[in-house]
Amino acid sequence: MAHQLVIVLDFGGQYNQLIARRVRECGVYCEVKSYKTPLAELKALNPKGIIFTGGPNSVYDEKSPHITKDIFDLNIPILGICYGAQLMAYTLGGEVSACQTSEYGKTDTNYDNSSILFGGIHLPSTASSWMSHTDYVSRVPDGFRVTARTADCPAAAFENAERKLYAVQFHPEVNHTFAGQGMIDSFVKNVCGCVGDWTMAGYAKTAISEIREKVGDGKVLLALSGGVDSSVAAALLAKAVGSQLTCIFVDHGFMRKNEGDEVEAAFKDSGMNFIRVNAKEQFMNRLRGVSDPETKRKAIGEEFIRVFEQEAKKIGKVDYLVQGTIYPDVIESGLGDAAVIKSHHNVGGLPDYVDFKEIIEPLRMLFKDEVRKLGTELGLSPVLVWRQPFPGPGLAIRIIGDITDEKLDILQEADFIFRQEIAKAGLDRDINQYFAVLTNMRSVGVMGDARTYDYTVALRAVTTSDFMTADFAKIPYEVLAVAANRIVNEVKNVNRIVYDVTTKPPATIEWE
Ligand code: XMP
Repeated sequence: MAHQLVIVLDFGGQYNQLIARRVRECGVYCEVKSYKTPLAELKALNPKGIIFTGGPNSVYDEKSPHITKDIFDLNIPILGICYGAQLMAYTLGGEVSACQTSEYGKTDTNYDNSSILFGGIHLPSTASSWMSHTDYVSRVPDGFRVTARTADCPAAAFENAERKLYAVQFHPEVNHTFAGQGMIDSFVKNVCGCVGDWTMAGYAKTAISEIREKVGDGKVLLALSGGVDSSVAAALLAKAVGSQLTCIFVDHGFMRKNEGDEVEAAFKDSGMNFIRVNAKEQFMNRLRGVSDPETKRKAIGEEFIRVFEQEAKKIGKVDYLVQGTIYPDVIESGLGDAAVIKSHHNVGGLPDYVDFKEIIEPLRMLFKDEVRKLGTELGLSPVLVWRQPFPGPGLAIRIIGDITDEKLDILQEADFIFRQEIAKAGLDRDINQYFAVLTNMRSVGVMGDARTYDYTVALRAVTTSDFMTADFAKIPYEVLAVAANRIVNEVKNVNRIVYDVTTKPPATIEWE
């Protein structure tokens, strides 16, 4: 099914992905393209609208990204945001000047509700918008009218409705802009005429038929980690090519409690060839006595490849290898570049070890939230669809120091209890990652009348949008108290619980 397209033209803005996600939230498909994309190429895509992103430059910088004036004559609606607004004004003969006072943060904005962008979304005449700029549009081009103002910005929004050209100095894609999502919705629906034909049900249908056509009667191989991306990719491929697909799930024994079985249960009856390799012994042998974090990680990575390779060899030559690349990976690795091949799940260099013809990346155009929606659409269990990120080396890097069976049991139990309590408190979708760590420290406690000398378990929970920086989650004390109490009572050899209250940086999310 062909769907309508909106193009987000990237001028180097930090919010380019966010804009694209907001458009997709309106049920409208969009793709991010570089501002360098030739006009003929953009036109050939037949977009219903174009959105210019913000960017760090000033239009007067020699090196700043510019755009040909011809784009405004294509008769395609355009919305310019921040730098994109300034660029529109500058290119069409308006004037851009340096702000006397830069605006940054939430700013009171007066809206003219007669604009199609703001009317119809119940926007009060004054509301907050999110500003971040040091230049401003001091004179709008001929034919344009101003539709929003702030104390320091006389043209916070302007438009030429006849030519379907709209511009906002603020960032409607940022949540702090009151009704920002509604403004984007107004632009794509009321100005561009998009009907909202982008659904995950439609995507699944198209993807399945495209995969069938491509694969023919070829053989497909997928390394399944149990993570969201590889699980959804597996479910999609299974629907498309069933028994021609083989998924290899290397269970290194460092999964969380019950997790290996959950992954197996989800795929056992899917029609594909599902191979679970229970390789715990092999990994434990390799890790015996290893306590240095980097050595652990390296050993696990190498062992993983070895096990995977052994299994893949049994299958013989495959035609396609599936990778769970998602759209943010594509955008971040350079817009417009050719196929991006990323090794997932720490299987650095995996493709080198497996003989295959081509890579299939069925999630390449999807954002993470869309991958989850697709997983739900395909009938995957919520346990897999809503799985929090989990490092490839698993619990091995959450046991500080050397790893033993006893320590692994302790950590699995403690972690399970913590996750149960977070879910019970209804916090599981608000906290981005939460887990237990078995520290290598023991301390004195008292249980009954006896002295104990047992392990300390640390609880870690963070909120973050990109996992590059993170804050510790402000979990209510009562929830922590119940989790701590249960862990010391139900898990043997643990007598003390601490909560990690460091941010990243300077700490990292994981402890190793
Ligand atoms: P750090 O500890 O670096 O973690 O703050 C950031 C995010 O990355 C995850 N992580 C990994 N994910 N393989 C992965 O697939 C790994 O080796 C790995 N190490 C850390 C971590 O869980 C967090 O979400």
